[in-house]
Amino acid sequence: MTLSEPHRPKGSPMREEKVLAQVRVPGKVILMGEHAVVYGQPALAIPVFGVEARAEVVPFPAGQPGEVVLDAPQVELRNVPVSSLPATHPLRVAVAQALGAAGPPPFPLKVRVEATIPMAAGLGSSAAVSVALIRALTRALGKDLPPEVISALAYEVEKIHHGTPSGVDNTTVAFARPGYFRKGHPPEPLEVGGTFVLLIGDTGVPASTKDTVARVREGWLRDKTGYEARFRAIGTLVEQGRRALAQGSAQELGRLMDENHELLRSLGVSHPVLERVVFAAREAGAWGAKLSGGGGGGNIIALVPPEKAAGIRQALQRAGAVRVWTTTLRPQVEK
Ligand code: MEV
Repeated sequence: MTLSEPHRPKGSPMREEKVLAQVRVPGKVILMGEHAVVYGQPALAIPVFGVEARAEVVPFPAGQPGEVVLDAPQVELRNVPVSSLPATHPLRVAVAQALGAAGPPPFPLKVRVEATIPMAAGLGSSAAVSVALIRALTRALGKDLPPEVISALAYEVEKIHHGTPSGVDNTTVAFARPGYFRKGHPPEPLEVGGTFVLLIGDTGVPASTKDTVARVREGWLRDKTGYEARFRAIGTLVEQGRRALAQGSAQELGRLMDENHELLRSLGVSHPVLERVVFAAREAGAWGAKLSGGGGGGNIIALVPPEKAAGIRQALQRAGAVRVWTTTLRPQVEK
């Protein structure tokens, strides 16, 4: 739906609000390749549809001409004019990106934003919120932009959140499909040759991706040769993982995930609770398990035999996972 004329509610306050755009964006999880992807290596990432960010745009007749007002109760913003937020506030920057692409609103608008994606858990909450807001606002202003453009606009917001992000998070949630990602390249769809059941376990330990990315950077500056060798080793595992996915070989993919975890540990981004939950997954019969995302807390991902999923889920919870999601990759059906 496009904004063409102001909506001016008359009469009863019970009158229905005209929704100009409504958008839902999934979370994401990294299957393999995090951190090394910041240094140009490939990564495999998949959307997680069990969690999402939502944005909705409605007219806001009480606002000033051309004003955008934000309603994001989860971050304590209630009907706040965007222009009153600090210049580097991520939501203000996201609105600016959207208006830069779609032009100023012809009348005041309100953007409602909410998310069921836990923050600081490695599930791409910041990227999903930015993509949802930018897609909803540009759509309300009459521009239905392709995912690569939405992703590029959201990337500018990701820089505020994460410093030097690779762009894998905004790309994965904007395209909402499993992808092979390399910094600066369009994502390639992942071929999935079998059914892969993945458990994502949130340790509940809050983790800042910005901090762990900075920690890896410090290590790299101290020992470029050693770190780059590890990044390349991770890149090789990712290529092998891509093939294992295409061949439907869960056992092989699990083995590669375990190896990827060891390399991430050697980069200093694990955490005692992550170690405990990863170990519990393997003990309970997972084909492989690793930390996922920035590390330092956040979540783990385990590839599990379907018949053992329930037992492994319980093992993760016993080991300290506060939430567990299941996501399944299946062969694409030709349309
Ligand atoms: C965060 O989801 C993944 C990292 O590789 C950072 C990035 O790619 O920007 C840790």
